[in-house]
Amino acid sequence: MKIIVTGGCGFIGSALVRRLVGDGHQVLNVDALTYAGLPENVASVADSADYAFLEADVCDVAPVAAAMKQFRPDAVMHLAAESHVDRSIDGPADFIRTNVTGTGAMLEAALAYWRNIRPEAQQAFRFLHVSTDEVYGSLPDGGYFTENDPYRPNSPYAASKAGSDHLVRAFGATYGLPVLITNCGNNYGPYQFPEKLIPVIVMNAVAGRPLPVYGDGANVRDWIHVDDHVAALLRVLESGTPGETYLVGARGERRNLDLVKTICARMDRVEGARFTPHEKLITFVTDRPGHDQRYAIDPTKIETELGWKPAISFEDGMDQTIRWYLDNRDWIDTVHDRRRLGEG
Ligand SMILES: NC(=O)c1ccc[n+]([C@@H]2O[C@H](COP(=O)([O-])OP(=O)(O)OC[C@H]3O[C@@H](n4cnc5c(N)ncnc54)[C@H](O)[C@@H]3O)[C@@H](O)[C@H]2O)c1
Repeated sequence: MKIIVTGGCGFIGSALVRRLVGDGHQVLNVDALTYAGLPENVASVADSADYAFLEADVCDVAPVAAAMKQFRPDAVMHLAAESHVDRSIDGPADFIRTNVTGTGAMLEAALAYWRNIRPEAQQAFRFLHVSTDEVYGSLPDGGYFTENDPYRPNSPYAASKAGSDHLVRAFGATYGLPVLITNCGNNYGPYQFPEKLIPVIVMNAVAGRPLPVYGDGANVRDWIHVDDHVAALLRVLESGTPGETYLVGARGERRNLDLVKTICARMDRVEGARFTPHEKLITFVTDRPGHDQRYAIDPTKIETELGWKPAISFEDGMDQTIRWYLDNRDWIDTVHDRRRLGEG
């Protein structure tokens, strides 16, 4: 297939681009290269004849529309977004711009392109919007998010993603554009920008720096390896029903404090570890305002209707991820050198 991926230089987008090119698809990666977009993340496929890159802002309809006309995609997988909750609290404007306006612009460009292709191509075309479980708000101790839950976003990030989801659904309902939406839990894995919890903890543990945990660490997140998320996106693209939403999760609920302790225990076993036991570096910091207590996904729909299941256990995925950050200090250095790091 010929696929446009937006945000393909970010954490999840780059995992998707590497997988698509590896599988023999043709990819046009559209990315504005913000602080979170690193060309290094797709270096392994950059020389492939099946890979092309367009530096563009998804809010700019004209260059994106022109690229669609020329590339003639079978699908658009839209991942470009501002993605860090803490940054959205400090400055929501960029989130509203990229996540809401940018998604609207992508939809406009896709609709104009789709209206001018042959009927068979129109039927086969897909616009897959990649979103988050955070649109559903916070869960009490029991219960799980399902596709039928009402939206109750609490952070500016979650609200901007909720807005984008509504626009995507509306373009499906109003114009018949074949749209799909996925809402996934917290991803972990290689190439995650080192402002997010897991890379922050690993890199601070190596250096003997404090390991920051919000509040009392009791907040629960539902973790999934990025490669399992990517596999789910491909399954939804191939077999999902247009107009539908699919929740993506690996039944990976962990309290933040337990997750950090798990990383500490693994870091204790790393050869040459200097700061064992790493648990003593744990430092509780002032909680994030409006911090959602718990996210947990019921993935029954994607499992039963599309036959997708995660393939990577939390234990194996965590071992592989920690090893990757330890083995790829040059990647971390590149990120730090550019002085793009936020508040961590
Ligand atoms: N990380 C997670 O745990 C998670 C979970 C569920 C859903 N998501 C969603 O998946 C998508 C990717 O998340 P991520 O963690 O890889 O994000 P990321 O921050 O690592 O990457 C975002 C990418 O989008 C690009 N980008 C930002 N603004 C842009 C703009 N205006 N125009 C073009 N490109 C732009 C950046 O340069 C970067 O390459 C997002 O839509 C996010 O909401 C993420």
